Amino acid sequence: MKIAILPGDGIGPEIIAEAVKVLNALRLPLEMATAPVGGAAYAAHGHPLPEATLALARDADAVLFGAVGDWKYDTLPRHLRPEQAILGLRKALGLFANLRPAICYAQLTHASSLKPELVAGLDILIVRELTGDIYFGQPRGRRSAPDGPFAGTDEAYDTMRYSRPEIERIAHVAFQAARKRRRKVTSVDKANVLETFQFWKEVVTEVHRDYPDVELEHMYVDNAAMQLVKAPKKFDVIVTGNMFGDILSDEAAMLTGSIGMLPSASLNERGQGLYEPSHGSAPDIAGQGIANPLATILSVAMMLRYSLQMPEAADRIEAAVQRVLADGLRTPDIHSEGTRRVGTAEMGDAVVHALG
Ligand code: IPM
Ligand code: MG
Repeated sequence: MKIAILPGDGIGPEIIAEAVKVLNALRLPLEMATAPVGGAAYAAHGHPLPEATLALARDADAVLFGAVGDWKYDTLPRHLRPEQAILGLRKALGLFANLRPAICYAQLTHASSLKPELVAGLDILIVRELTGDIYFGQPRGRRSAPDGPFAGTDEAYDTMRYSRPEIERIAHVAFQAARKRRRKVTSVDKANVLETFQFWKEVVTEVHRDYPDVELEHMYVDNAAMQLVKAPKKFDVIVTGNMFGDILSDEAAMLTGSIGMLPSASLNERGQGLYEPSHGSAPDIAGQGIANPLATILSVAMMLRYSLQMPEAADRIEAAVQRVLADGLRTPDIHSEGTRRVGTAEMGDAVVHALG
């Protein structure tokens, strides 16, 4: 099995180093190769996703991705910005299914901005479609407005669109995931306003016929945003489009009080996957050795489970993370009275030790 390691920018290299430490400690038969991505790749090779990096990713069974982005690159034209690396990888590898668990760990309940009783035991899985929608829809661009009250003035436009197969395949992922959980899927749309999401709702309803054992509910995205902070535990699996999924997954992450704890997986039809922490590159704390490596370490667990078919190794990592939390070790983002504050490397070492 081959793993492409893409550390990226900001805290990316620091957290990836800890994840690789954990992976090495498991002594699995894996071949690892590292390549630059994002701003780091732009600085070195003039492009955020160099051909060689893309080739390495294509050729791998799984990609372990840190994070990309830095203020330094905010003024670059869009096609050279670090974010293009992750969007380019998603598109090139066909990573249409993004799984973003939002789990509130028992020891971290107080870290949530919601009352503990609302989030204790929270376990939601957001299934976000990742290669379609307004993110990638053509046409898009700038032009002179062709019609309407502002005809002739400058305008910018994007296109929201979904085809039937794109909706069908992500719906199947959601229903199948629900079967391994509490058997409930909430499909989030904006069918009351958008043609695209009226169609989305119809297709998800059709796919549901194959899963009579799973409950399906439909919810408008604005209501879903509200329900997520009102009664988040009512959700099990949420399935939605690229744009709504981007927004709701950040909201759900915050419910857990610790975006530094949340892994994610992006899978294609062949089970090849890209694994990354749900948080970003956090350039403000880069290089200080205080970033929380647990989201990346838990992403390694997802990688072992979903792309490498090594579930026992995944279990071992997850159990080790539980153990270090139970032992009271905390990076600053999740630190509170009565727990022990540790840095990035110390946290990584502790997980390795807890693997037993
Ligand atoms: C995410 C991020 C990306 C997205 C950005 C960095 C392009 O916000 O993975 O959620 O919008 O998908
Ligand atoms: Mg996002």
